[in-house]
Amino acid sequence: MPSFHCITYGCQMNVNDSAWVARTLVRMGWTECEMEQADFIFINTCSVREKPQHKVLSMLGIIRDVNPNASVAVAGCVAQQMGEKLWEKNAHVRLVLGSDGIAHAPEAFERIAKNPKLRLSYLKFTKEFPDRKPELEFFKNVQSLPIGTLEQNTKGNDTRAFVNIMQGCNNFCAYCIVPYTRGRQKSRSIKSILEECQEWLDRGICDLTLLGQNVNAYGKDNAGDAPHFTELLYEVAKLSGLKRLHIVTPHPRDFCDATINAYKELSVLAPRIHLPLQAGSNAVLEKMGRGYTNKDFMLLVDKLRNARPDLALSTDLIVGFPGETEEDFQETLRMMKEANFISSFSFVYSDRPGTKASKMTDKISQQVGLDRLNRLMALQNELGEAWLKSRVGVKTEVLLEALSARPKYSEITDHNLAIDEVKTLSQQNNSELEHTSWQGHDTWGNTVNLILPNALQYKAGDIVPVKIVTAKKHSLLGELDK
Ligand code: SAH
Ligand code: SF4
Ligand code: F3S
Repeated sequence: MPSFHCITYGCQMNVNDSAWVARTLVRMGWTECEMEQADFIFINTCSVREKPQHKVLSMLGIIRDVNPNASVAVAGCVAQQMGEKLWEKNAHVRLVLGSDGIAHAPEAFERIAKNPKLRLSYLKFTKEFPDRKPELEFFKNVQSLPIGTLEQNTKGNDTRAFVNIMQGCNNFCAYCIVPYTRGRQKSRSIKSILEECQEWLDRGICDLTLLGQNVNAYGKDNAGDAPHFTELLYEVAKLSGLKRLHIVTPHPRDFCDATINAYKELSVLAPRIHLPLQAGSNAVLEKMGRGYTNKDFMLLVDKLRNARPDLALSTDLIVGFPGETEEDFQETLRMMKEANFISSFSFVYSDRPGTKASKMTDKISQQVGLDRLNRLMALQNELGEAWLKSRVGVKTEVLLEALSARPKYSEITDHNLAIDEVKTLSQQNNSELEHTSWQGHDTWGNTVNLILPNALQYKAGDIVPVKIVTAKKHSLLGELDK
C-alpha cells in the first residue's frame, strides 16, 4: 500500500479537511510517513494573504528537491484559484482539488496510485454541501477499522474534534478572497452533522467545535434541510458525552438574540467566543462591508456578557486597510480595550486579486501598516497578560491533553520517549517518575500546566477540577482543586 504525507497551511477548516483526508487514507490501508519517504504528498493551501500563497509555491520546489519521485496533490484555496495552471511548471503535481473537490481526494489518490500517468483535477463548486460520509459510493468497498484505530494512526489531537457544518461564504467582505476560493455558502444537513458529532463522542472525545467560515449563518442558504443555527446548537447540546462545545467563526452581524440566549441556557457552550471585529472605525467597517458599526458590535458584546458574565472574547483585526487614517486606527485600539479582547489574530491588510479592496486607490504603505500592527500587538499583549493575571485564584476545569514526564532514573537521557516507554523503562529500573506534569485547556481556552499527584493515573481526555495558582506570560499554572 502507498505511503503519504500531509502539509497544511491556513485556517482550522483546512486543518480539519487534512485530518479527514489522512484518516480516510489510513482507513484505506495507506501509511502516513515523513515527506522524504512518501509516495504521495498532500498539500492543503491557503490564499487569504499573499504570504501563505508564496509558501505553497516554494514548498513545491522543496519537494522536487527532497523527494522527486513523489506524486503531489494540491488542495484548498490556492488550488481553487490557480486550478490546472499549477501543472504548468510542476510536473510532480498529479492532483488538483478545489474546495469542494476535497471530498473526492481518496478516490482520486487511489486512481493515481493505480495509474501514475494520470493527472486529475476537481475544481467545480457543488450546489450542496459536499458530504464526506462513508456512504460515498467509493467507501462501500473499504473495510472499516475498529473504532479508535483511526486517531491513533493519524497525527493530531485526540481529545478535541472539529465538525464542519458548512462550506463557503456569501459575505464578500471587501478585502477577502474566501468567497471566491470557497464558493457560496452551503449548509450541511443536520442529520449528517449530528451523526458525525455522535461518532466522535462515542470514541470518547468530549470537546467539539462546530466549524464554518461564517458559522452562525448556518441554515441561511438553500442547500439541504438546514434549520436555524440556534436549533442546531440545542440539538448538538443534547448529545450524550458532550462536555464542551465551541463555534468558529461566528460573524457579529449574524449573532441573533436566540443564539445569545443559547449561551445563557446551554452550559455546555464554552464561555469563550472568537468574534472578528476587523476594524474599530465606522468608516473602515463600512468600506470593508462588514454590516455593523462599532456601536452595534459593543451592543452585541454587552448582550453576550449579560447572558454569560464569565465570557472571554478574542478577535481578528486588520490594520492598514485602504484609506485607514491614524484616527481610524486609534478607534481600533479603543475598541480592543472596550471589548477587552483576551487575544487576537492581527494582520496587515494584504491585496488579494479580484477583491473589491484590491481596486481601491487609497492604499496605505507597508511601513505604516507594520507600525500600526506593532502598536496593536503591544496593546494586545497588555490585555492578554492582564486577563491571565485575573485568572489567579479562579476555579476551573481542565481538559488534559498531554503528559510530560521525566524519569528519575538518570541514565534515561532521551526526553522524547513516549510516556509508555518511559513507564516501562522506569519499571525495569525500579525507578519513579518525577516532574510529571499535564498540559491542557481550561473552559476559556487558556493553556494550563498542572502538577498532579499520581499523574500517571490520568489519561488524555480526562477533565479535572483545577485551581489556578500562577499566571505566566502566555499560560497558567494550576493545581488539583480537591
Ligand atoms: N470567515 C472568518 C475568517 C476569514 S479569514 C471571518 O469572517 O471572520 C481569517 C482572517 O484573515 C479574517 O478574519 C481577517 O482578519 C484576515 N484577512 C482576510 N483577508 C485578509 C486580507 N486581504 N488582508 C489581511 N487580512 C485578511
Ligand atoms: Fe471573508 Fe468576510 Fe466571509 Fe469572513 S465573512 S470569510 S472575512 S468574506
Ligand atoms: Fe485560507 Fe481559504 Fe481558509 S483562504 S483562511 S484556507 S478559507
